[in-house]
Amino acid sequence: MKDKVCLITGATSGIGKETAKVLAGMGAIVVIPVRDMEKGNNVKNLIVEESHDARVEVFECDLSSFESIRNFCGEFKERYYALHVLVNNAGLWERERKVSADGIELTFAVNHLAPFLMTHLLLDLLKKSAPARIVNVTSGLHQSTIDFDNIEFDRDFSSWKAYRQSKLANILFTKELARRLSGTGVTANCLMPGFVSTGLSRNSGLFSRTFVRMIAARPRKGAETEIYLATAPEVEKISGECFKKKKIAETSKESNDPDLARRLWDVSTKYVERYLI
Ligand SMILES: NC(=O)c1ccc[n+]([C@@H]2O[C@H](COP(=O)([O-])OP(=O)(O)OC[C@H]3O[C@@H](n4cnc5c(N)ncnc54)[C@H](OP(=O)(O)O)[C@@H]3O)[C@@H](O)[C@H]2O)c1
Repeated sequence: MKDKVCLITGATSGIGKETAKVLAGMGAIVVIPVRDMEKGNNVKNLIVEESHDARVEVFECDLSSFESIRNFCGEFKERYYALHVLVNNAGLWERERKVSADGIELTFAVNHLAPFLMTHLLLDLLKKSAPARIVNVTSGLHQSTIDFDNIEFDRDFSSWKAYRQSKLANILFTKELARRLSGTGVTANCLMPGFVSTGLSRNSGLFSRTFVRMIAARPRKGAETEIYLATAPEVEKISGECFKKKKIAETSKESNDPDLARRLWDVSTKYVERYLI
């Protein structure tokens, strides 16, 4: 991984933070776009304390704003001429229905549309840097479908339904992306990290937070498959798969439906097309 440029979203906490630490320790140049610069700089300082020659650069980027994503990608491309690994790790689970800066239901916006847009804006650089990898973080909680008539849960919002739909979208996006990237030297895979004690449950009640802390895996353990997909030579040529515990895993019937994946791709493009130019 020495001198490889690796971009990891959601590296201020949980699984992403552990991934950033490990990749920086392997000699990679780690770029972390964050919405809170103070948090981002704390993570950078922590990593540099652990390994003095680590290279970590923090950029501001709020994934709940298309404009912020586009600005960040522009800054990134001005500064870096290569991108070898893109880890779309950031995610959230909101209890109440909220909307993004663009007025889009927040779970759909941050968990799906943000990585969709960021990947598109960085695709030329990834292709130029091939062999390169895109790693998307989904979840075992993807048993769902895409309700195109109510994709933003304008009716009947449920935090579970919104989260599951967004995690199904992560798999469908990965598979369609891998099909479109065939022959380019850029791979796209996703992973299910398992049940991990992170900030994801910060919006749930005290009882569930305590329960999660007691039984879930530590973030370093939870980051293992993410780190594996970002670095392991044996997966360099694998694309379009979903991994769990460093192995290809089965996912739901819906997640393997190419028509659903294409339709979601088209709908997602409509959402972000103003920012693609
Ligand atoms: N934990 C689990 O059991 C589990 C299971 C399956 C899948 N996952 C997936 O794993 C991924 C990582 O989550 P985690 O468990 O490590 O949770 P986490 O500790 O809450 O980390 C989430 C990260 O996403 C960032 N983020 C959220 N909204 C953002 C925004 N608008 N702009 C920029 N960054 C934003 C957070 O930044 P801030 O620090 O600024 O909030 C944080 O760095 C997610 O995709 C999640 O769905 C987790």
